Amino acid sequence: MENVKLEKNLTGTKLANPVFSQKHSPYYSIDMELKKGCAGKSANIESVDLLFDETRIEAQLLVMNALNKYFDWNSATKDNIILTIGKIIDGLLSNRDIFQNLSELKNVDDYTFEHSINVCVLSLVIGICMDYSIDKLEEIGAGAILHDIGKLRISREILKKPSILTDDEFDEIKKHTIYGYQILKDNSNISPVAAYIALSHHERYDGSGYPMGLEGDNINKFARIVAVADVFDALFSDRVYRKKLHPREIIEYFTKTGSHYFDSEVVDKFVEMVIMYPTGTNVVLSTGERGVVVSNNRGFPLSPVVRIKCDGNNNKFKRFYNNYYEINLADNSDVFIDKVCDIG
Ligand SMILES: [Fe+2]
Repeated sequence: MENVKLEKNLTGTKLANPVFSQKHSPYYSIDMELKKGCAGKSANIESVDLLFDETRIEAQLLVMNALNKYFDWNSATKDNIILTIGKIIDGLLSNRDIFQNLSELKNVDDYTFEHSINVCVLSLVIGICMDYSIDKLEEIGAGAILHDIGKLRISREILKKPSILTDDEFDEIKKHTIYGYQILKDNSNISPVAAYIALSHHERYDGSGYPMGLEGDNINKFARIVAVADVFDALFSDRVYRKKLHPREIIEYFTKTGSHYFDSEVVDKFVEMVIMYPTGTNVVLSTGERGVVVSNNRGFPLSPVVRIKCDGNNNKFKRFYNNYYEINLADNSDVFIDKVCDIG
């Protein structure tokens, strides 16, 4: 029964009935585009089924989350980039073989599913900033969303082990690159580039990666993009065996190791676009003052503009107009964000 429904969905019309229709959704403009594209096509029962397709809905929610979490858009770039990413990812999810692989991955490991979506969004933003054509972006997107698909062939015990892996277990995990290549390489419905990305996303620029220990420009260019996105999202995620790193540590990792492990052109583009503290994040500054992030400075992911509402003793300001003041951390290098807090 499940299979019948899945099969029906896979052959359904691409977002004929948009999942996101609220004006506040970043997908709003995409919905409008797709509606225009679908005008004249009869509404069919399959489009209604799409609403119940949990994997597809979850994937699209995760795309929005990743966009909101990792990027701060000014009005000039927002619409173009979000529209492009939305169209490409909708296209990927409408590819029967890509969607089926992703659904299987979700069944095995929710974390890897979410991570794959994040890596896809991050890789596409980097690719867009590097001025790749839509055709190339589609290849990057396919490889990014399927980069860990080889984990389908890793035993669940190893994949979900809540502690540090033994050397043998780590050797087995490393094989997900080769398994991924094997799964994708003969699939005529998926770009062969995706197979190379799955194979090479753990290669490192200095030759210290795996499975082949390739160096520098011998590593597929798109795999070098996915490598940065992959490591970034992994470091920014809580795992059972370790907490996510502090944003400062993550950016330092990339800026200090960038030219050793990664393609520095990719790292530069990435640091230029990514943010670590989305608007609305409650933070405590090194001065002890508490406030909320109100905007970000492009190229300075650790230094947003913060609206300060409480002093170091947690007393609300009364002396400022509106009872707050704003500090642009990009202009105040001696003040930095100490930590994120749940309550403002
Ligand atoms: Fe991987």
